[in-house]
Amino acid sequence: MDKLRTQVGIVGAGPAGLLLAHLLHLEGIESVIVENRSREYVEHRVRAGVLEHGSVDVLTQAGVGERMRREGLLHHGIELRFGASGHRIDFPSLTGGRSIMVYGQQEVVKDLIAARLAAGGRIQFEVADVAVHDIESTAPRITFRTIGGPAEVACEFIAGCDGFHGICRQAIPGQTLHVFERAYPFAWLGILAQAPPTHDELIYAYHERGFALYSMRSPQITRLYLQVAPDEDVARWPDERIWSELHLRLETSDGWKLREGPVLEKGITGMRSFVAEPMQHGRLFLAGDAAHIVPPTGAKGMNLAVADVRALARALAAFFHSKRSDLLDAYSAICLKRVWRAEHFSWWMTSMLHCFPDGDAFQQRLQRSQLEYVVSSHAAAASLAENYVGLPFG
Ligand code: FAD
Ligand code: DHB
Repeated sequence: MDKLRTQVGIVGAGPAGLLLAHLLHLEGIESVIVENRSREYVEHRVRAGVLEHGSVDVLTQAGVGERMRREGLLHHGIELRFGASGHRIDFPSLTGGRSIMVYGQQEVVKDLIAARLAAGGRIQFEVADVAVHDIESTAPRITFRTIGGPAEVACEFIAGCDGFHGICRQAIPGQTLHVFERAYPFAWLGILAQAPPTHDELIYAYHERGFALYSMRSPQITRLYLQVAPDEDVARWPDERIWSELHLRLETSDGWKLREGPVLEKGITGMRSFVAEPMQHGRLFLAGDAAHIVPPTGAKGMNLAVADVRALARALAAFFHSKRSDLLDAYSAICLKRVWRAEHFSWWMTSMLHCFPDGDAFQQRLQRSQLEYVVSSHAAAASLAENYVGLPFG
């Protein structure tokens, strides 16, 4: 059996696992990542696109923000669109100068993998049957299979960064884990299109046919989403149907037009809210989607992963450098405070902007009133803006 020894064993090479490995490396702490997909797969998985102000700072300070600063799109606001007209929310004036960066998650992942490999970091891709053991001891282990046969990582801590469907959360005994969950009666159909954006900023549109989101990845590529039924079959959405629905939901009475282009990627994402508490058991620490999920409307998923591993890297550094375990003990409580703020914000944005299949006229009037309040009240707009750009780290 192939046996490796390291300080921190990390399950999952998504944004959480990769950034954690890099932050630990900067602290002189060794880690090994095990990932069940291929490098090619994780580098091309199209997902989130918005980085909070603080996430941009974390990546920049960690020395992995160079391409992001060059190719990412710095945005100073978003537009809320309803009743066929747009209303801009200006971030810097409402948040003391904060903004967001539009930069694809898979680009963050590519930058982090390149940085890890350049620093001699170990990422074991395409492993199978990953399991964690002895998490209540001071010598936990990760076992898995590679094409070469069975393998093991012996470590001092395990970071479960293996996403919502991973195995780490399940390793925490059921009686100690509390799960909080909410399902939504809709999903998002997302496309990437080879079409230059015709608007400089993201547009969140409330429409009686359903929510639509206008985003982008570069001066040549648009990223668009449509609210669809929760069990929708992507085969029922040929490109022409998608474009026609996007035109209806996004276009305004002042003549703004959406530009079409070849569809490069198409997929459906379910919507849920989910939190598992606590985010730690023994020497196993959960981070990112392994511990919590938000509906994507607030663009918080990847940012929460960044915040979690920032806290975990600091706590592990305090342990390895100063034999302090107070930050490790406080890890779950520190993260959950931010997690629940993002859960609320994501639920609130989702509730305000989507059509609920069972929603009556009363609910629609409430949503419309809420939208009008957000775009006309300084206090309400500031509340949306400070949550969207991300609250300062605690
Ligand atoms: P992940 O990115 O899920 O990474 C987990 C990694 O662990 C993966 O590489 C996975 O292959 C690996 N893994 C899983 N199981 C195992 C195992 N047993 N052993 C080894 N490795 C394992 N957020 C937004 O804000 N906006 C969006 O538009 C948006 N779209 C999304 C679309 C989809 C389809 C999904 C699933 C999520 C989306 N999100 C979005 C959420 C956002 O992408 C996540 O919050 C973010 O990826 C969290 O990063 P992570 O590293 O915690 O988890
Ligand atoms: C994107 C995704 C989101 O969930 C969001 O709220 C904003 C932008 C995107 O993929 O660009």
